Amino acid sequence: MLRFVLPVAFASCVVAYFGLPYIERLLAEWFRSDVELRAQLVMHSMEEPITDLVKKGNESRLRAYLAKVTADERLLAVLVCRPDGSAMFKTERAPAAISCDAAGDRNAATRIVQLPSGSVQISRFDFDSAEPIPFRVLMLHDLSFVDRRQRTARDFVLVFVGISVLLLALLIVLVAWLQLRRWAEVLIGDIRGKRFLDDAESPRASMPILFQVRKVLAEAEEKQRLEIDFHENWTPQALRQVVRDHLHSAQVIIVSNREPYIHNFDADHHPVVQVPASGMVTALEPIMRACSGVWIAHGAGTADRETVDRYDQIRVPPDDPSYTLRRVWLTEEQEQGYYYGFSNEGLWPLCHLAYVRPAFRAGDWRAYEAVNAKFADVVAAEANTDSPVILIQDFHFALLPQLIRKKIPKATIALFWHIPWPNAETFGVCPWKREMLLHMLSADILGFHTRYHCQNFLNTVDRFVECQIDHEHMTVTLQGHVCRVAPYPISIEWPPRWLQHLPDIATCRAAVRERYGIGAEVCIGLGVERWDFTKGIIERFHALEAMLAKNPRQRGRICLLQVAAPSRAQLPAYQALQQHTYSEVERINAKFAEGNWQPIVLIDHHLEPLRVFELYRAADFCLVNSLHDGMNLVAKEFVAARDDEDGVLILSTFAGASRELAEAVLINPFDVTETAEAMETAMRMGRDERRNRMNLMRRTVKENNVYRWAGRMLMDAARIRQRQSLPPASRRHATSDR
Ligand code: G6P
Repeated sequence: MLRFVLPVAFASCVVAYFGLPYIERLLAEWFRSDVELRAQLVMHSMEEPITDLVKKGNESRLRAYLAKVTADERLLAVLVCRPDGSAMFKTERAPAAISCDAAGDRNAATRIVQLPSGSVQISRFDFDSAEPIPFRVLMLHDLSFVDRRQRTARDFVLVFVGISVLLLALLIVLVAWLQLRRWAEVLIGDIRGKRFLDDAESPRASMPILFQVRKVLAEAEEKQRLEIDFHENWTPQALRQVVRDHLHSAQVIIVSNREPYIHNFDADHHPVVQVPASGMVTALEPIMRACSGVWIAHGAGTADRETVDRYDQIRVPPDDPSYTLRRVWLTEEQEQGYYYGFSNEGLWPLCHLAYVRPAFRAGDWRAYEAVNAKFADVVAAEANTDSPVILIQDFHFALLPQLIRKKIPKATIALFWHIPWPNAETFGVCPWKREMLLHMLSADILGFHTRYHCQNFLNTVDRFVECQIDHEHMTVTLQGHVCRVAPYPISIEWPPRWLQHLPDIATCRAAVRERYGIGAEVCIGLGVERWDFTKGIIERFHALEAMLAKNPRQRGRICLLQVAAPSRAQLPAYQALQQHTYSEVERINAKFAEGNWQPIVLIDHHLEPLRVFELYRAADFCLVNSLHDGMNLVAKEFVAARDDEDGVLILSTFAGASRELAEAVLINPFDVTETAEAMETAMRMGRDERRNRMNLMRRTVKENNVYRWAGRMLMDAARIRQRQSLPPASRRHATSDR
């Protein structure tokens, strides 16, 4: 109430302060001109008798006459004066202080004189031509009544203003209260009905303030929803918000060897775009779509050079450009040594326990160093701030963290290792282990899929590098730089965008059966892989063979549809695998084929994601029996594709995905019998059990989607940036304290 009354009272006081003197002056002038008029009137009626009495010199009659005239209390006195200024006659109450001179010069007929008893108005009337005695009359009017009336008027105005202020304030309070009550009702209704998001955009002219409030609430709700999303449902929007709010819209740069879009010439020499078969690309592409930024990668396609601009850049995805792909060109020797050699013949078998012996050659290492340095130059050229967020991908770039750190000291650098990290003894085989580890530790964050891989890494660092390791908080401090080692299980986008382009399950099944000549009664088992020795392709054929041999009833009832996307095909180990695959498929098919049925259908070329998702939807079970795998996103894609909550996932315990998808039928891929039994189990499993298992796995993949993977890493990056911005003393405290 006071909040309303005080401003109104203050405003009224200001008005009264400036207004009252004006009113008083106005009143005084009115009264004076009234008195003046009155004086003239009185003089008019007195003119004849007084001239007569003065002429006759009859003083006693003059006195009597003027005594009667001045009986009026306002007419204080009358003075009859000679032209020389001496008094001829004064009435009784004439103040001593006023003499015949008081009238002033002839031009001013009226004057106000202040006396101790109050103000007096003197009106002068000249009778110069009166014969024989010229005279003048001064008429004195008492003006003290004007002061009294002014006071009364002032008091009245003040009381009036006071009461008005009070009434006005009461009225304002009443109206405001009624209005607030109405708004509160509307808002409570909105809050209960969660209506602001839909309504916030439609301002009601009659309720502008309410509209503002609704807008703020809408924003708050949106923010809260995104906060909730962080915990339950990570979305591209939530990720964008992390970049905006937590990283203050820092530039995000991704570096990887494999590019997300490859342009190759077709038979007619037209460039065609291809999405590579790479779990890393599958995971990162949605992130870049959400955050924009720059993706730097090796331009390996035959038409890549023809499709970039003069800065070696191209906006992608082709159908909806939302980020920049910057291609880096490598010479054949560089590609040979860095990619085929050190990365895929050295590190890949080193990190995957698949019993292919790693090969380390000094020339490959030099190429690896040179290519890492080249990518560091490109990163520095593409960075448009001194503190970008740089997300380095995979084992192709172990040296990049330190090389970039030297060029952009304030960059926030995360290196994510998409493949397993072996134990210290195994890694110790690498001749350049120390160099690799030292370079990697310049990152702010080193990410692995599982805690087990993190522990392996920390043990490896412990074994080969002089540094301080905090096992509890998983940090490594080397020359004052703190590197955080943490598990970030990678995933896929949810829901996968391909699903919206695919028909229902029955239609997909029919299309796939038709395309690959699979009978309606035949159960479809599916394998989708790069043609890689870590994936257990041969082992799965052996498992199928064992099942068909042990249980002939299954012949003609199961078909293994195997997609093997050619990969690193220049390398002997991969060529050998391809040959082995062909011969095993031929042998097993020859052994069991009956009529139109054959146990294995091999698709030995790359399939675009849409076709792969169609296969997922057509399959009865999906077999992921990797001998060793960082995560394996095929398992997660299969689960995500099954919105019918059907289908069985058979999953290797040596794939990182098995830590999350515990409801899959878990197998040891080296145990052929167990894998064969798992296939039979999948074929026998009832609809309810399939639904229950699939349901749980779908929930996991939905919650732990790729936005969560990236979001958690970016939130950690933001926290590290914040910490690094602290002054040195508190930073030291913070690191030892974390
Ligand atoms: C794995 C690696 C990726 C790689 C992919 C395909 O998933 O972690 O970094 O891109 O294999 O291999 P490629 O050699 O064809 O890029």
